[in-house]
Amino acid sequence: MFHRFIVDISPIIFKNCTPCHRAGESGPFELMTYEDVKTNANKIKFVTQTGYMPPWPADVSYTHFIGERTLTNEEKELIKVWVANGTPKGEASKIPLPPVFYIGSALGKPDLVVKFKEPVPLKGNGADHFYVIKLPMHLPKDTFVSYFEFVPSQRKLAHHINGHLINYDPLKKKDTEGGLNHSLDAFKDYKELYGKMNILNDDGSFPVLTPNTVYYLPGYTPPSYPVGIGGFKTNALSTILLQNIHYGPSNNDVLDSSYINVFYGPRPKRPIYETQLGTFGISKIEPDLILLPNKIQTFHTQATLNGDASILSVNPHMHLLGKSFWAFAVQQNGDTIPLIKINKWDFRWQYYYTYQHPVIIKKGTVIHVYGTFDNTDKNPFNPNHPPKVVTQGEGVKSMQTTEEMFQFIFTYLPYQPGDENMDLSKHR
Ligand code: HEC
Repeated sequence: MFHRFIVDISPIIFKNCTPCHRAGESGPFELMTYEDVKTNANKIKFVTQTGYMPPWPADVSYTHFIGERTLTNEEKELIKVWVANGTPKGEASKIPLPPVFYIGSALGKPDLVVKFKEPVPLKGNGADHFYVIKLPMHLPKDTFVSYFEFVPSQRKLAHHINGHLINYDPLKKKDTEGGLNHSLDAFKDYKELYGKMNILNDDGSFPVLTPNTVYYLPGYTPPSYPVGIGGFKTNALSTILLQNIHYGPSNNDVLDSSYINVFYGPRPKRPIYETQLGTFGISKIEPDLILLPNKIQTFHTQATLNGDASILSVNPHMHLLGKSFWAFAVQQNGDTIPLIKINKWDFRWQYYYTYQHPVIIKKGTVIHVYGTFDNTDKNPFNPNHPPKVVTQGEGVKSMQTTEEMFQFIFTYLPYQPGDENMDLSKHR
């Protein structure tokens, strides 16, 4: 066996590594060329043998998702033998071209890029920061948008972003530019803040707001769905309001100049709904989420669906003390539908996992979610030494990285016959 980069190794790297290990993405170095891979060969062998890379926390023996990134044992072995053989290149004339990516987006070339109007200053005081930020948009006409993709400039700090789309009626709003572009989230009265940020209509009324249009967590790329599924009607005069942008702590003062890629699309035929169990959600966590020091504890939450739903994607969410996560559904006839299992929680990789075909959940089905948290010294991510009591905290600040959350978010369509055959990997 004499494995060569060109034949055996490059397809594995290009498929599983290069999407992140390239200019503008999260990987700390590029894996685009033979030389890149050769230079990092020993590290690559190590991280693939240990399963640290590619990061894919979901258990693939439980459920499968689109874009799954895991190596087979055979692929891991190929890399190992190739490194042991001194990283042979193969016939230079047959070098495959690295895949072509669009720099600055995981989805391709956007139709429009909307940048922060001014950079957001983040103090290096070791504390979390919560901002409210507005990004006014001027589109050529009223249209439909399939995706808003948030691209962080401070990837290590951007923890969680949730943004809304505001559509203005030009008769009610002359100018969307003036006012504060951003504000620290330390205020009591939203109406007052929106006034200062020039978000309200000219007569002081609230404009029309479409919630949760922009979303981001570490490792997240917006799931893309088939034509007509999801998407947003967007007025020529509109604004993205990042209502909750949460930056993790840093020890240096930095500026964040993130941006949003806008992808136009066809008129949405079926809007996507999103719901969540657990923290801030429709179901109660039992027992209350109080993590005692030096303990490993498991919590449960459940909800019953009151209509037939076609589940498109799922997003488990916990913070640093998460240890494992498991969600499944039990139908009225007793059958169990597996949803997702994460055996080794990793705070750094929180995807929206999209099924190849929607998972059909009938009315009356109960969704069960179990989350285990490790508040001992053995948890390498535990921010507290010695460990202390950790809870959900209060209000917005409960999203502090060092507080905990236990959430199961899912996106779905109200069921229509044939949904079970819809192929969610075929899009746009
Ligand atoms: C989803 C994005 C993503 C994918 C896919 C990915 N990486 Fe990474 N990789 C990262 C990020 C981000 C880091 C730095 C943070 C960390 O180490 O956790 C990293 C770190 C690394 C490191 C450095 C570890 C260290 O501490 O020195 C190596 C080596 C590596 N990746 C190799 C690979 C290989 C090989 C693949 C494919 C088999 C791969 N990565 C796939 C995002 C990715």
